[in-house]
Amino acid sequence: MSIAYLNGSWQPIDEARVSVLDRGFMFGDGVYEVIPVYQGKTFAEDQHLARLANSLNELHITMPMAQDAWRELFAEAIVRGGEDEAVLYVQVTRGVATTRTHIYETSEPTVLVTATKRAVRKISDQYRMVTKQDFRWGRGDLKVISLAANSLLKNEALSEGYDDAILIRDGKVTEASSSNIFVIKDGVIATPVADNFLLHGVTRGQVMALAQKHGMPLEERDVDEQELLAADEVWITSTSMEVWPVVSINGLAVGNGESGLLYQKMYQLFQELKHQSESGSVT
Ligand code: PDD
Repeated sequence: MSIAYLNGSWQPIDEARVSVLDRGFMFGDGVYEVIPVYQGKTFAEDQHLARLANSLNELHITMPMAQDAWRELFAEAIVRGGEDEAVLYVQVTRGVATTRTHIYETSEPTVLVTATKRAVRKISDQYRMVTKQDFRWGRGDLKVISLAANSLLKNEALSEGYDDAILIRDGKVTEASSSNIFVIKDGVIATPVADNFLLHGVTRGQVMALAQKHGMPLEERDVDEQELLAADEVWITSTSMEVWPVVSINGLAVGNGESGLLYQKMYQLFQELKHQSESGSVT
């Protein structure tokens, strides 16, 4: 069953309710995290909590509870959710205002945590992407709940027959609508710099650390659109997709149109990491 914790009480997810005056509802004024659960344990909890703290801090929303309280809440959500392979969704908004105004009032943050069964993907799910202009705001590094632009880009890609959009800003790759991008050419793995235009993905960080640990050449730098289109392999990374191959972009095959050798190596390393490490850190 999908379960929800909302401001101190637990209920089935479809029964949880917030006020229409919640600033999350009125303004998209809140932040979120998506945390994977493997074999009944959260993965990379520290990194997700650190990013949550940063997103809240940058938006001047009060951190609603201490780290230990979050950890206990996550553990309880896993037990109540009853799924060993799950995803925790954590959302904190600025809270309920007395009237609709752009000006912040002092309010208690609204806290939502849900636990839902993790969707299982098949290795045959191969991603076909299309490039699109990245017209989103200049703070893609903040994990804010206002995802109208990301959704629009994803749905445009779907309506054109693709699986997702790879976003291009000023000729350079930023990320995809809900994942980070890696581009591989001649055995060298490159990923765009984690600046203010893209989310500093936790999975991205783990894949980079795995590459470094296993001596796979890795560069964090600007990646231009031409380089993307000429790559031998392209991967996406996210909590839901882990690391996943892109087999075509704009209708043209990436490499030979199948998942590449370096991808297969990284996929294996990631599977080992998620089952071995309790912390989700590459050591
Ligand atoms: N996506 N970029 C964007 C815009 C995202 O929404 C996400 C996460 C990522 C990857 O971040 P991480 O590796 O920390 O999940 C990059 C959601 C949460 C997902 O698909 O899981």
